[in-house]
Amino acid sequence: MKKLRIGLFGFGVVGEGIYRVLTEKSNLNCEIARVCIKNPEKKRNAPAHLFTTDHASILDDASINVVVELIDDSDAAFQLVKRALTSGKAVVSANKKMIAEHHAELIALQEKHQTSFLYEASVCGSIPILRNLEEYFDNDLLQHVTGIVNGSTNYILTQMCQQDVPFDESLKAAQQNGFAESNPTLDVEGIDAAYKLSIICLHAFGKLVNADSILRKGIGSIKPIDLKFAKEKGLAIKLIASTHNNEEGLSASVLPTFITEGKTLSRVDNEYNGLLIGSTLADEQFLYGKGAGRYPTSSAVLSDISALRYDYKYEFRKGQQRTQPRTDGFGRFYVSFQKNEPIDLGLFDTIEEQYTNHEMAYVVGTIRFSELYASDVWQQQDVSLIAISE
Ligand SMILES: NC(=O)c1ccc[n+]([C@@H]2O[C@H](COP(=O)([O-])OP(=O)(O)OC[C@H]3O[C@@H](n4cnc5c(N)ncnc54)[C@H](OP(=O)(O)O)[C@@H]3O)[C@@H](O)[C@H]2O)c1
Repeated sequence: MKKLRIGLFGFGVVGEGIYRVLTEKSNLNCEIARVCIKNPEKKRNAPAHLFTTDHASILDDASINVVVELIDDSDAAFQLVKRALTSGKAVVSANKKMIAEHHAELIALQEKHQTSFLYEASVCGSIPILRNLEEYFDNDLLQHVTGIVNGSTNYILTQMCQQDVPFDESLKAAQQNGFAESNPTLDVEGIDAAYKLSIICLHAFGKLVNADSILRKGIGSIKPIDLKFAKEKGLAIKLIASTHNNEEGLSASVLPTFITEGKTLSRVDNEYNGLLIGSTLADEQFLYGKGAGRYPTSSAVLSDISALRYDYKYEFRKGQQRTQPRTDGFGRFYVSFQKNEPIDLGLFDTIEEQYTNHEMAYVVGTIRFSELYASDVWQQQDVSLIAISE
């Protein structure tokens, strides 16, 4: 097995986690040569001589053959990962924002410099989804990947729906527990989930989908009236990322979704993630695990590092076709809004239920996706749009 000499970037939640795992628990044939951080004043639980703030001291060191990138600045991460791949070093990253924004370029660098770029930890923390999609689901029988891919919003929704904890308090607890990104907007607005879905689209179907083109609504607009509706009807609310692929094209969305209690995804709570993988012959399979946090995320980073010992790389056998998601078809939706700021009901193709109280109103019915894309309803902060799972 190849000997790995690692340059680690980042010593935060995940960086310190993988440091501890590699130095205290793992028997892999590898050593951490240097650790690059941003703030030299912070106290660290590791020998001082390992630390540097100079990226070049890792990137220009020919004896370091692996860069593990675990920083929270995606622009700085892109620059350093590019340099590492260009100098032939293998790279392991957990940075979904950087990967989703620069996927094609990073893959091209991996190819050009005959090295490996692995990022299992970037999607669903500890769940081994990417290598499964690459290696096991390497044929055209796969139909959809649907699930809960953001631990922080799932934790917040669970607290709100099951414990009646207000949004702000739940978010603070998610941050204190290390589930939330440093910038919580990425989680709350569903942007983090869209980055992950864009990465899933490539490994599931060979389609390069820009995260900005994914129909997306976060959980920041969910209000007490929505929670009450869910409780009365026996529904859970989950932020669902979903992509379906067939001859007519690929669909992709990240939407708060009502799921009947008892269904598989309704039982994925707190910081856990869960993915349903639908395929022609096997019907549905389910992957479940911790989607965030120090050690669950470190386990995926460790698995990538381990795979580098035998020079594993993603082959992208399904291709890399740039694709715009479909906007045709209908969905069933619940939309709630302030009574004195009504939405245009022309948005609905059919209406099956309507309710108004002294302050709020909601409408349930079907909406054409093309109408939804064209309207600004899903972008309005005080309008709650929740998909209804069939
Ligand atoms: N936390 C999770 O559960 C989780 C799960 C999956 C994926 N991820 C991903 O893993 C990555 C790291 O997340 P995290 O939660 O560990 O972040 P974090 O706790 O905020 O730590 C970030 C680390 O990056 C360092 N850093 C920031 N900018 C830097 C720069 N320009 N050069 C060198 N070091 C720099 C910081 O240095 P200082 O210590 O000096 O401030 C800190 O050690 C992110 O891409 C995140 O999206 C996290």
